[in-house]
Amino acid sequence: MSGEEGPKLARRHERAQLGHSGFGRGETMAKPVKFAHVVYMTRRFDEMVAWYKNVFEATVVYQNPALAFLTYDDEHHRFALANLDVMKPDGIGVDDRGEIGVNHVAYTYATVGDLLETYVRLKKADVLPYWPVHHGTTLSMYYRDPDGNRMEFQVDVGTLAEANAYMASDAFVANPVGVDYEPEALLSKYRSGASEAELLKMPKGEPSVIPPAHGMG
Ligand SMILES: [Fe+2]
Repeated sequence: MSGEEGPKLARRHERAQLGHSGFGRGETMAKPVKFAHVVYMTRRFDEMVAWYKNVFEATVVYQNPALAFLTYDDEHHRFALANLDVMKPDGIGVDDRGEIGVNHVAYTYATVGDLLETYVRLKKADVLPYWPVHHGTTLSMYYRDPDGNRMEFQVDVGTLAEANAYMASDAFVANPVGVDYEPEALLSKYRSGASEAELLKMPKGEPSVIPPAHGMG
């Protein structure tokens, strides 16, 4: 092998691998700035809330019969617990891959631009979000990996104080899930130079219906 063939072969090998995976390697890929939270599905709701309060010395930010949000630091929630006895009282369906356990994990991006650039990059690889939703506290896109593990890519809408105030508001009690939005419409706004504040604004609309792909309803 001549001196030049090695690197050439390595590049060809790399291209082949990229082609196989379907993911291009963007030189400026936006990365999450932090890991944010995990959401568990449970049929031991009260016991689980108590356990996380005890073990992590967590406080409950918000709780209703179906959902609880808890935190132990300066993140608006580190855990959410979804009560399957309320959300899915009839048990397990044939296509459910096992409901108790992790529902999703969440990664925070620094800006709406980073989230949308990620959306565009993944779309090129045929990876699409199954639930674009504005939660009031976060602008989010939910994805699933090939095994069906769910993840939320999100951008914080405001400061921690604003998130806490929102989660304590009547608006949150009336709609703790959020409002759907169109990623393509948001992308057009972003590309036409809309401000971050404008992009982060919660859309007016009906409470989002949690899609079946999210495993809660
Ligand atoms: Fe989440």
